[in-house]
Parts: sequence; C-alpha cells; structure tokens
Amino acid sequence: MPLSAPTLEELDLAGKRVLVRVDFNVPRDENGAIRDDTRIRAALPTLRAILEAGGRPICLTHLGRPGGEVREELRVDAVGERLAELSGTVVVKLDESFGEAVQQGIAQAPPGSIVLLENVRFNPGETRGDPELAARYAELGDLFVNDAFGSSHRPHASVSGIAAYLPSAAGRLLQSEIEAFARVLDNPDRPLLAILGGAKVSDKLQVIDNLIERVDALLVGGGMAYTFLAAQGHGIGASLFEEERVEVCRQALEKAEQRGVELLLPLDHVIAERCAEDAPTRTSGLEIPEGQMALDIGPRTRALFAERIAGVATLVWNGPMGVFEMEPFRSGTLAVARAVAACPGYTVVGGGDSVAAVQEFGLAEKVSHVSTGGGASLELLEGKELPGIACLGRV
Ligand code: 3PG
Repeated sequence: MPLSAPTLEELDLAGKRVLVRVDFNVPRDENGAIRDDTRIRAALPTLRAILEAGGRPICLTHLGRPGGEVREELRVDAVGERLAELSGTVVVKLDESFGEAVQQGIAQAPPGSIVLLENVRFNPGETRGDPELAARYAELGDLFVNDAFGSSHRPHASVSGIAAYLPSAAGRLLQSEIEAFARVLDNPDRPLLAILGGAKVSDKLQVIDNLIERVDALLVGGGMAYTFLAAQGHGIGASLFEEERVEVCRQALEKAEQRGVELLLPLDHVIAERCAEDAPTRTSGLEIPEGQMALDIGPRTRALFAERIAGVATLVWNGPMGVFEMEPFRSGTLAVARAVAACPGYTVVGGGDSVAAVQEFGLAEKVSHVSTGGGASLELLEGKELPGIACLGRV
C-alpha cells in the first residue's frame, strides 16, 4: 500500500477542539532539564495551523517509560513551559490526561491557548492500546490529529486508538515524514541507493530484505558489515560478528545478485586492538588480521562510497559507518555524511545515530529530509505499515 494519510487541510478546524498526539519525548539531563527541544519545535507548524484556522489544540504526549504509573519526574510541566516559550502562546498544562477535571480545564482554557495534557504513559491502558482509554481521550475533542511520527510505530491508545472515534488526519510533521519516505519507498527517482550501517545485522534483518527489493544499490558499513564479510569467507579478526546471522547475510548477498542490486561492502578498514579513544589505529586491506577489530571503514571505501553517493537521484541512509562517537573512528561516517550533504539528488537520513551524526557534523541543513523518528523510520524501511498512520481517516 502506498504511504499516505489525510492531511490537516481536509479537516474543518474552526471552533473545534483538536486532540493532537505529539511526540514531546525529549532528551533530558539528570536533573530533568530539557537537553534538546527539536521535537517541541517540530510540532509548532501543526499547532500554529490549528490556531490560525480557529481550532483549539489539545496536546497529548508521552515522556519516558513510566510503565503505567505516575512518576513525578516524568510529568510534562517543563515541556509545557518550553512549548509556551517557543510558540509565544499561553499553554495550559493539566495534571491528568482524561476525565471530568480535564474536560473542565479544556473548557476554561483561554481562546488562542494550547492545552497540554499530562504524560499519557501514566495511564496503565496506554501502551496496551486499551480502546476504552482511547474512548476517554476521544471525549475531550472533536477531531484527532497525529503529529507524533516518532511514536507512530506504537499501537498505543493515544497514537492509533483515538482515530477510531473521531475524524482524523496527519499533522504537518507527520505529513512531511510520510512524503519523504514515500519518495524513497513508493516511486523513487532512480537510481535509488540505500546506505546501511550500525552495529548489528540482527537489528536490520527486515530492512535489508525489504530494501534489496527496492533499491538499485546498497552500501553496507558499520559493525554489521563484518558478518557479511565473514559470510563471503574473509578474515574479520576480532571485529563484531554474529555467527547466527551468517546464513542470512549469505542469502541477502545472493538475493542482491539475483535481482541485479549492487551490494557494496567495505574494501578496507580502520583497525585497532580495542575499541577505545586512545587505542593506536592503522588501516588494513580487505582481510583483517587476527586480534584486530575493524571500527570504521577505510580510505578506499570512503572514496568508493562517496563516488556512488554522488551519482544517485534518491538515497536513504540509516546507521553510522563506524564508532563515530570516538574521534579515531569517525572519518567513515563523516565522509558519508559529507557525500550525502553534497548529493544533488533527494536525500533522506533516518535513524537515531545517523541523524545524530549529520547534526553533529553541522550538515543536517544540507540533507533533503532528516527524520524525527528512529524506530518509526526503521519500521517504514522494513516495509511495515505504521499503526499511527494506518488508523487515520477511518471515521
Ligand atoms: C522515541 O523516542 O523513539 C519515541 O518517542 C518512542 O518512544 P518509545 O520507544 O518509548 O516508545
């Protein structure tokens, strides 16, 4: 099924109470202070559009994983304060997320304000996707908008449950994510290239399988590359290795060959005896000596990957090429990030670590679309339907 959802424009927002599922699950420091408010900023276009159309936005979010009970440190008050600062709008924060007191709080909120409900994961039924809880949320509004792309792979009551009771649509952020992934997955301009990295093959089994059916070429780097190289019979020394995945890698290599998909693995590596910032490093050729581990792609591979990236019309990148958090092993991820940023085609970066990398390198602005969802973007690349998208527009 092509990836799509009804948009905000299809809802008559004027005078309506609009329940908006946002993903304000922001990173915080040990004192609970917000470290990064990107996710709050990302919801502003939807909230502004609702206010401008005369609607009354009522936000639902989760924060952390409180496991169905109230945890004081996971209340969303600080998120509400930041939302007020960023939006320049009055934010009325309520201390529960359904029930009579909440209905009254919403009715009394001043016109032009945004209401923010308490952490929905304080409710035991939330992560179970309890339909009765979803019905209690639905009582609070006339319309439902999902703008929580980062949570859309979760079949939770506030994500995919409310749309069973109210007319619904995707918010601006979710819409932009849907459009970006549809451009890669549904009808891409070709050639289409995928770059996969990250530590483990086991985390990306379905992604590999699904992408081989869609792409023209696949570049594989990061820890997962070494199980592939082992499957081809190469010496991988002490590099990351998942013995139980060798067969899957072999099958993927075969499938790629049968379908005429070019699957490129690293040709050389940055190796060290241990994975540490101060470990002495050197470059090895394809074969990795005993006792040494590959922790990044080498210079020939960087050049090869950069050359392939330069010539594509569409690309998607998920997962770093090495242990980029450590200075000696960041060159591969940096080279790929630079090549992606310079690529004239349509470029999508999804997945927590590769997004963190392009942001850290100051290159995010040069990527066509940087996804706000780690798990959600991975499930789209696996070819799965996301419950938070599939539920929309059914009433
Ligand atoms: C995320 O941060 O990936 C989303 O907010 C989802 O959070 P979760 O993994 O706790 O469901």
